[in-house]
Amino acid sequence: MCGIVGYIGKRQASAILVEGLSKLEYRGYDSAGVAIIDNNSIDVMKCKGRLANLEEKLKETPIEGTIGIGHTRWATHGEPSDLNSHPHSNEDGTISVVHNGIIENYIHLREWLTSKGYKFKSETDTEVIPHLVDYFYNGDLLDAVMKAVGKMEGSYAIGVICNSDPDKIVAVRKDSPMIVGLGENEFFIASDIPAVLNHTRDVYLLNDKEFVVLTKDGVKLFTEEKEEIRRDIYHVTWNADAAEKGGYEDFMLKEIHEQPKAIKDTMTSRIMPGKPITLDEIKITREELENINKIYVVACGTAYHAGIVGKYVIEKLSRIPVEVDIASEFRYRNPIIDKNTLMIVISQSGETADTLAALREAKNHGARVIAVTNVVGSSVSREADDVLYTWAGPEIAVASTKAYETQLVAMYIIALFFAENKKTLSKEELEDLKKEMLLLPEKAEECLKNKEIIQRYAAQTYTHKDMFFLGRGLDYAVAMEGSLKLKEISYIHSEAYAGGELKHGPIALIEKGTVVVALATQDELFEKMVSNVKEVTTRGAHVLGVTFEGNESIEKTVDSAIYLPRINPFFSPLLSVIPLQLFSYYVAVQKGCDVDKPRNLAKSVTVE
Ligand code: AGP
Repeated sequence: MCGIVGYIGKRQASAILVEGLSKLEYRGYDSAGVAIIDNNSIDVMKCKGRLANLEEKLKETPIEGTIGIGHTRWATHGEPSDLNSHPHSNEDGTISVVHNGIIENYIHLREWLTSKGYKFKSETDTEVIPHLVDYFYNGDLLDAVMKAVGKMEGSYAIGVICNSDPDKIVAVRKDSPMIVGLGENEFFIASDIPAVLNHTRDVYLLNDKEFVVLTKDGVKLFTEEKEEIRRDIYHVTWNADAAEKGGYEDFMLKEIHEQPKAIKDTMTSRIMPGKPITLDEIKITREELENINKIYVVACGTAYHAGIVGKYVIEKLSRIPVEVDIASEFRYRNPIIDKNTLMIVISQSGETADTLAALREAKNHGARVIAVTNVVGSSVSREADDVLYTWAGPEIAVASTKAYETQLVAMYIIALFFAENKKTLSKEELEDLKKEMLLLPEKAEECLKNKEIIQRYAAQTYTHKDMFFLGRGLDYAVAMEGSLKLKEISYIHSEAYAGGELKHGPIALIEKGTVVVALATQDELFEKMVSNVKEVTTRGAHVLGVTFEGNESIEKTVDSAIYLPRINPFFSPLLSVIPLQLFSYYVAVQKGCDVDKPRNLAKSVTVE
């Protein structure tokens, strides 16, 4: 999705804006631009393509000035082009705007503004904003932005500059992320914290419909009624390096390797041997939990796959029925919700539009909502009743790895917490599971040692056009995630099937040489899975098996095997996904794909 950066201070804005935008590249974009005030006039530079193109243009024709806004655009309305890139300006170029989100009533506003004599140059929804601000401008930029926003429907994070009010930036957000960075005599707006971390660790987290005015003297926050708001400073404790590659080829590889730590961090102070599970952020009482008769787990993409594992583990441990839904489907299917329904939404970014909409739908019907998210202060975290943060740290690669891993940890913690409170497990059973879970970081570390064999298998298979992932039970849930990862970053078509389902149709696709990745980590399903593998090998498939150490008999059936260190198979998803992530990664590298920024994908999908 789009990225926004704004700067006001004593330094030259251009370099700071471009550097800030580079930290937002992970959000996905197809064009970039800046608008800077110099000598009471606004200079705009924007172009299609990578940020490097913009940097090149700025080198050729530098723009001076210490106040500016910058943007990386991910096209929604209008193709990626120089003209559709942000910032957008009013007709005489005295007002410039950057915007993230979608103005849903833009056609109506465009017609209305056209009837007032305004002319449009681009195909974007955003272009209505500078014209609206122009229409309402009467010497007070904040006032004009407030009135313009009053006309707009949809989602937006906006930064505005105006050469008649040359010493300020006005910004506002609704359903799109925005933070304010507080430096020494310099201030920033940005879509995400990494964009300002080289300059400050102190930020304000903005809520929906809060307006900000940044001047060289400071920052003021206002309600939509223009009442000043007092906001506590949020001090960022994680390191700026956490958002850099740290010696790895790509963010994705780095993030795969960070998983043992991410698992540990997410369990820290929550799971301790001999102590009750501690979830300070979840306020649900034992009595409320007793009354819960149904849980919906709702999410998109990888987070949805974590939800499927969540269903298995919550149902198994707490005996509460769980339904898992794709967020974009949930909101339109009139789900049965009442005050005894609990919703768990899972979202790395906490800003996914469909997930947020599903959360709101459930709340409107009286359900209680627990958010599992990786981003502190994200929309999802603020709108849910309870929050369980995954401590994966910033995830930059578009393809999620460590966030998924910590979402799994969160689902296991929630399942154990429910079981403990509902007393569906004995103390001994609970204690055994906790002890086993605490072994996960070191076991995950061991899984990373399998790299060479996976790399070899990737080198043998990367030219294939189709691949299949098979599993039963928890393995099927992980197979879905393995298949998504492969599609996302290597562009190879792949499908995940439940082992037993194959013969009901998809087996028709298996032919000589078809690549199949088969997971067989569930003891009670092992033999059945081996039979499913035989069904494909007899038809010529080339199979990579993933199972636990001790199951070497699988070698009689598969072509290559990856062995996971032994752990209670109940926790196998946290380990078995690691070789699948590495497999996708090495296949994509062999194919020469841009692993961290796969085509057509955005990290944070803030539109429906
Ligand atoms: C992950 O690899 C994907 N790029 C994508 O499916 C992602 O998980 C999905 O868009 C949900 O994002 P969220 O967790 O930020 O809500």
